[in-house]
Amino acid sequence: PHLIAEPADLRAALAGAALAARGPVGFVPTMGYLHEGHAELIRRARAETGGPVVVSVFVNPLQFGVGEDLSRYPRDLERDLRLAGEAGADVLFHPSPETMYPEGFNTQVSVAGVSEPLDGAARPGHFTGVTTVVLKLLNMVSPQRAYFGEKDWQQLAVVRRMVQDLNVPVEVVGVPTVREASGLALSSRNSYLTEEQRARAAVLSRALRAVQAAYDAGERHTQVLRQAGLEVLASEPEAVPDYLSVVGPDLREPDLLLPHPLNRVLVAVRMFGVRLIDNMPLQGS
Ligand code: PAJ
Repeated sequence: PHLIAEPADLRAALAGAALAARGPVGFVPTMGYLHEGHAELIRRARAETGGPVVVSVFVNPLQFGVGEDLSRYPRDLERDLRLAGEAGADVLFHPSPETMYPEGFNTQVSVAGVSEPLDGAARPGHFTGVTTVVLKLLNMVSPQRAYFGEKDWQQLAVVRRMVQDLNVPVEVVGVPTVREASGLALSSRNSYLTEEQRARAAVLSRALRAVQAAYDAGERHTQVLRQAGLEVLASEPEAVPDYLSVVGPDLREPDLLLPHPLNRVLVAVRMFGVRLIDNMPLQGS
């Protein structure tokens, strides 16, 4: 893929005869250190987009809190270029922090409501950082479709809300979570873990499946559903739950779940010094 660092060069490349003639753009925003989850998003974009597929790699400082892992976030641009190309990307956009946030930058994009519970409560300012950078990237790339993983369910909901509220001319596409055979959701942050620790981190997906099983057995009281998941988490002493929540489409936990296709169980855990998140659908909602 073409490696581009400046928004003006990106616009010129996408407007140029070679790429523009191919049709509307598909876009996959990432923070890099690409894995099979990212590759799946890129393949979906490739399959559904006639025109060029753009992947951005930008570790967005705005969405990291103080004391979070910004300085140690994993990076490997050479590998990202190769993986993005193999998955079907035409352009890899890799702006610098100075390009994204020059001296004088002073605007924030904040979504209320869906951004407030769960990760919004645990990571103040995080989603404002996400929506600010995502809107900037969407404005730079002008894609017809943008692809986001269900792995970050709340992020997907927040981005959908922003796009709807601000009339951003893009179709947001959600892509199911890619997992290891153990059930562990792929994440760039898994690189912080040893092989043994990764095996033990599969407890997150086991806890979510326990909630799914209780739901499938007919349980609708969120307290009871939550307890089923927390019991599994308790079997791993290294796992310190941040939240485990059973929610409807508004990302809030009711006492009793009403039928809805967007019912979901979400979990965040601290394990081995790393914060891991995962979520699963509650089927037949
Ligand atoms: P990042 O964590 O790199 O993830 C980029 C995209 O890949 C997100 O939409 C995420 O949900 C998706 N993704 C990650 N792991 C996945 C998996 N196992 N299966 C399916 N999709 C997966 O999310 C971000 O970056 C940033 O917040 C960003 C949106 C780029 C804004 O900075």
